[in-house]
This record gives sequence, C-alpha cells and structure tokens, in this order.
Amino acid sequence: MRSPKSSGFWWARDDLGFVDGRLNFAGHDVAGLAAAVDGPLFLYSQARVMTNMGRVREGLAQTGQQFRLYYAMKANRFEPLLRALARSGLCGVDICSPNELDRALACGFAAADISFTGTGVSNRDLQRLLAHPELNINCDGIGMIRRVGEHTPGRDIGVRVNPALGVGYADNERLTYAGQHVTKFGIYREQWGEALATARAHGLTIRTLHFHVGCGYLDGQLADWEAAVAAGLAFLDDLPDVTTVNLGGGLGLPHRAGDVALDMARWAAILKRHLSGRNVTLAVEPGDYIVKDAGLLVLSVTNVEMKCDVVFASVDGGFNLAPEPAFYDLPCEPVACIPRTPDPETWRPVTIAGNINEALDIWAAEQPMPALAEGDRIALLNTGGYAAAMSSDHCMRGAFSERLLEA
Ligand SMILES: Cc1ncc(COP(=O)(O)O)c(C=O)c1O
Repeated sequence: MRSPKSSGFWWARDDLGFVDGRLNFAGHDVAGLAAAVDGPLFLYSQARVMTNMGRVREGLAQTGQQFRLYYAMKANRFEPLLRALARSGLCGVDICSPNELDRALACGFAAADISFTGTGVSNRDLQRLLAHPELNINCDGIGMIRRVGEHTPGRDIGVRVNPALGVGYADNERLTYAGQHVTKFGIYREQWGEALATARAHGLTIRTLHFHVGCGYLDGQLADWEAAVAAGLAFLDDLPDVTTVNLGGGLGLPHRAGDVALDMARWAAILKRHLSGRNVTLAVEPGDYIVKDAGLLVLSVTNVEMKCDVVFASVDGGFNLAPEPAFYDLPCEPVACIPRTPDPETWRPVTIAGNINEALDIWAAEQPMPALAEGDRIALLNTGGYAAAMSSDHCMRGAFSERLLEA
C-alpha cells in the first residue's frame, strides 16, 4: 500500500491518511470505529481542533495587538467538544441564539467570554440575552440598538456594520455576507448616522465594532478581504469609545485539490498594517477554520449498481446530515475507508448518492473511487463544521452518532 505522504492525495496529512491500507484519523482506524456503531457516525479530532486553534492564535499574536479568540459554535455545538474548548482556556465562544448561550454556559464558558452576534433578534431573545450583563452583544440593526436601549439603557454594546465589501469561498455569492448585493447583515454606511443617534438617545456606549464579511476565504482572496477590512475599520472614525474590533470569522480551508490554504503570516501582516497604532483589542470568531477539517462523517455503502453508464454507490446518509455541498455547492471528498483496490491508478468514476428522496442528494459525481461493495465504509472529509450542526430530520433520516476522539 502506498504511504499517505507519497500517495498524492491532496487531503493527506500527518493525522489523516492510509496506514496498512486502512484510513487512519487522529491515530484511530476509521472503519474499526464505525463498526462499533449502527448508522452514520461523525468523528471529531480534539487534537486537530487544538492545532487549528493554535494556528489562529499564532497569527493573532503576530499582529502585535491584544487579541480575543471566540470559537463560533454555530459550526459545531457537540457538547464534549465545547467542554474541551472551555477547559483549554484558549478561546471564548461566539453565539447567535439564546439556546446557544445556554449551551455555552452549561459547557463551562463564562458570560464575559461569550460574544453574541445574531440576526432577526426578537424581544423574547433579548430578554434571555440581556439577563447576562457581562455578555458582549453586537447589534446588527438599528431596531436592535433601539430595543436593547429600551430594555437596558446605558448598557455597553457592539455594533455590526456592513462595509459593502466581502468575500466567500470560490467567490460564491451565497457565502458572501457583505458585497455588491445588499444583505440582511449589519448596518450600512447609509444608515450609520441614524444608528449612532439611536445609541446616543438611549445612553448606549459602543464598545465593539463588528463585521463579518463572508465565509471560507482562502489565500488568493486575501487582497479582497483586506479591502473589506479597510472599509470596515473606516467606521472607527465615529466610535471614540470602541475598545474591541471584532472581524468575525470566515477563514477558509481547502476543499479540493488546488485550493491554497490561508497563509496565516500574510493574514496577520494585513491586520498589523491596518491596526497598528490603534489602541484596540482585535477579536476574531472563526468556526469552520477550527473544526471543519477536524471531522469526518462515516457512512456505509448500501448498494452499488449501474444506471445507464453511471456507477452509483448509495450510502446510508444523505445531504440532510451535512447540507453544505447541497446548499452551497461546496466540494465533498469521499474516501473509501478500506480501499479494495489500493492503487489509485485503477480507480474508476463513481457517483456517491445519499438516502434522501431528492435529486440533489448526491455527495460527489463521477469521483474516482476503488471498487466498492455493500457494507464498505466511506468517510466524507471536512465534515467537522456546519454538518451535524445544520442537519435536519428530512425523510426522518436524521439519526447519527458523534464521537470526540480525545487522543
Ligand atoms: C457573525 C458571524 N461570526 C462568525 C461566523 C463563523 O464563520 P466561519 O465558520 O466561516 O468562520 C459566522 C458564520 O456565519 C457569523 O455569521
């Protein structure tokens, strides 16, 4: 069997590759772990999460600014993972709903280490959020500023602005939160005066400037991201009381061969250029970058057959368990856990299909795969973020297991 290093698989790394012809992840035999459970299984590597966290912290340290790192738990809210992060003391947590707040508190994060940035926030939501005076709350509209002011006049708040420039994976518009098209997120320059006046009218002090301009940006998009950062920071001119600038998340990771990973030294240099001399704490709240490549979804092959001239392999989990490929056209990388035909030169195109009655329920079309048979296990890579967390019970096929690999 080829070693992972020489195999040429773009996704192989020290903790992910074939060992003696079997897929190994975080020091564990993936097929062996999957055999112990019935049905779809998510595996998460704590070590990989911590490595990713460390890379971001190193980048932040290189900026020379004081910094705060919040993990965006919307990406993955598995409790053992959240508890491990809280124990590590390496990050706070970014939340977007009152239920996320409850989970973050229950998993060991203090309110002062939690930052809320949500959308469509109701008065019911506000009642639960404002019960925690130490919670950082970023308002993403004028109405929210007003209602926070009505409930808790004189409070410190953050404001989410929309710099009208943004960036997303592969320039995908659905992953771009600020840009050419008007989005629901943040306060635009056009309404800025009214936003400031509303905060003033209720005695609110704006302590945080927040913007999140898109998801999944990679190295080749850093120039566009820098332009968005510069446009966002321009709002600081009107904010004398700001102590923290929160740049949101959005740091991306490779999804297919040819994707170039973010160079964190370049990323940090951009931030240094724009922030040096400003007396503010730099905050970021990545989700994907921390957890996505730290997770696999392991499925079983239920059937293999030709339809016309296409070989279909059906598996026991559909797009409802990891919706991003269907929602955002994100590439999906299926890997046979024990390739029956180890030499990739011999692999043939196979279309991997889920078990949901929807035409879009295709994990990967015409993907080179080894020979497959019923009962074989296939791991879908990069499913540690926005997979289980976004899953649904469509067709009542929403059941799955999750396991955190702690060592
Ligand atoms: C406000 C905010 N912060 C952080 C994130 C996390 O983004 P990502 O997982 O791409 O880093 C999101 C994602 O949508 C967001 O909306």
